[in-house]
Amino acid sequence: MAAASTKTANIPATMRAVQYDSCGGGAAGLKSTEFQIPLMQHVEVPVPSAKKNELLLKLEAASINPVDWKVQKGMLRPFLPRKLPFIPVTDVAGVVADVGPGINGFQAGDQVVAMLNSFNGGGLAEYAVASENLTVKRPPEVSAAEGAGLPIAAGTALQALRTIGAKFDGTGKPMNVLVTAASGGVGLYAVQLAKRAGLHVTATCGARNVELVKSLGADEVLDYRTPEGATLQSPSGKKYDGVVHCTVGTSWSTFEPVLAATGKVIDITPNLTAILKSALHSVTFARKRLVPLLLSPNKADLEFLVGLLKDGKLETLIDSRFPLSEVSKAWEKSIEGHATGKIIVEMGD
Ligand SMILES: NC(=O)c1ccc[n+]([C@@H]2O[C@H](COP(=O)([O-])OP(=O)(O)OC[C@H]3O[C@@H](n4cnc5c(N)ncnc54)[C@H](OP(=O)(O)O)[C@@H]3O)[C@@H](O)[C@H]2O)c1
Repeated sequence: MAAASTKTANIPATMRAVQYDSCGGGAAGLKSTEFQIPLMQHVEVPVPSAKKNELLLKLEAASINPVDWKVQKGMLRPFLPRKLPFIPVTDVAGVVADVGPGINGFQAGDQVVAMLNSFNGGGLAEYAVASENLTVKRPPEVSAAEGAGLPIAAGTALQALRTIGAKFDGTGKPMNVLVTAASGGVGLYAVQLAKRAGLHVTATCGARNVELVKSLGADEVLDYRTPEGATLQSPSGKKYDGVVHCTVGTSWSTFEPVLAATGKVIDITPNLTAILKSALHSVTFARKRLVPLLLSPNKADLEFLVGLLKDGKLETLIDSRFPLSEVSKAWEKSIEGHATGKIIVEMGD
């Protein structure tokens, strides 16, 4: 039976949300204010309503990704933010509170993980509207915080590995991969997913996270602050068929000698130089290539990732959790760039 009429009781008219009124500020401006983010404030705003093919979610958790504060800094102008004031964050988990017209697969009370529309944001709030085609059910084995970690970070790790040629159905060929910034939100998922695909994994991270990254299956780990780490050379001399590159500041001349004959560097933080290098590689049919990657969000990938969490085949490593009332600390932590895993904001009751 269609669930279009179901709705939880007691949806309030207004909700707490965190928004910013203008772009700018950035990391330096935020840091100088001792966790008081001047551009960001709690506001009481109307609870949005679900339109066609949308769900209204009562949020339990959200995860912050670097793109969220990059948008606030104005780094993605003129595309984002589309409007001001803007409630940031897209990666959420919660419970369906109401369904819009055309929804058949969900009903009020369903626990879900969703990626909100990047143009609308909305994740730092008590309620948000999600599109049905980027919402998946969350089994009881997966907590809201674990689920909220997935959409951007694990989705990007998965797509980067697939671009290298990783297969997750047991049909893949053996490959050597390097994951840089393996202790970050994307990197920790990438290491685990690469092992799940049967790949040999070399990883880079800071000294304090070497044991953690090994415990997730990495075969070799380099401390990125050492001279050996800076060369990216595998201690066992392996050449990489692929690199999931999750940090900045590494030139092609560092990658080139450590790649196998047809090795690819999947750059998830490409700058203009990288984009031009990638274009050059394409037009010259280069065998070793730099490939910029931007996440292409899709429901099938999110379902696959939630399933891995449910089966205990993937873990969301949580760096820290903050209540919505302390979201500025979470924001600051993400800007600092030293999280080990995901930074989670919990909405509470
Ligand atoms: N293209 C896309 O669609 C896409 C999607 C997701 C993310 N991204 C981008 O990918 C980047 C990574 O995202 P994230 O969520 O993983 O970030 P993150 O969680 O903030 O990454 C932080 C981690 O990176 C480590 N790190 C920093 N510099 C490093 C280096 N040079 N070598 C090794 N480790 C280093 C830090 O270790 P220490 O604390 O030890 O320094 C820390 O553990 C961000 O720029 C993000 O915007 C792009």
